[in-house]
Amino acid sequence: MKIDIITVVPEILSGPFSHSIMKRAQTKGLLEVNVINLREYTTYARAQVDDYPFGGGAGMVIMIEPLVNALEALQKTTEYDEVIFLTPDGETFNQKMANQLSLKKNLLMICGHYKGIDQRFRDHFVTKEISIGDYVLSGGELAAAVLTDSIGRLIPGVLNDETSALSDSFQDDLLAPPVYTRPENYKGWKVPEVLMSGNHKNIDQWRAEQSLERTRLRRPDLLNE
Ligand code: ADE
Repeated sequence: MKIDIITVVPEILSGPFSHSIMKRAQTKGLLEVNVINLREYTTYARAQVDDYPFGGGAGMVIMIEPLVNALEALQKTTEYDEVIFLTPDGETFNQKMANQLSLKKNLLMICGHYKGIDQRFRDHFVTKEISIGDYVLSGGELAAAVLTDSIGRLIPGVLNDETSALSDSFQDDLLAPPVYTRPENYKGWKVPEVLMSGNHKNIDQWRAEQSLERTRLRRPDLLNE
């Protein structure tokens, strides 16, 4: 899978994909992430990519021309399944969307900055608008990193233990059960006995109950009860 990310601040994205699971996904050749600097696609002086909004108001707006230039240059070699614009007024991202997007071959993500991007680019080129939550970030870069991480780890072969993505919170609309590791007894705080029993049927049942209980308590909205 390939994820291309267009941004005016590529520096923000130099870290998130260089470590841990995202790094391994790329080393294994399962995921390719390219960060593209929008300033390389402008024809305006001093690498200008934004301008004042027509009608007035605070903040700058990213112009349509550099965005179209970048998109057309990238499309010469890549056919995108989705052109995603990260924006607080998009559809709220969730695990279901991550699952669906992990099945795609090529994704393009566009990060807004300042006040946003010219609406005409959204109208004519963007196929999906996604928000990562009801709060406003300075730009779409961190949101693009969140999407890339959550999508990338779902690509088969990226996680060592294939089942570990299946037992994530939200994967079946339930929160994950609690987990424990050594020591078995820490200052009198003991690991639940069932986990030490070696009885996998009982362990599975306990985990299922804990998942349901935790979901009921913390996220009853996930249950159709
Ligand atoms: N850009 C600014 N805020 C954002 C958000 N909450 N989600 C996605 N992109 C954004």
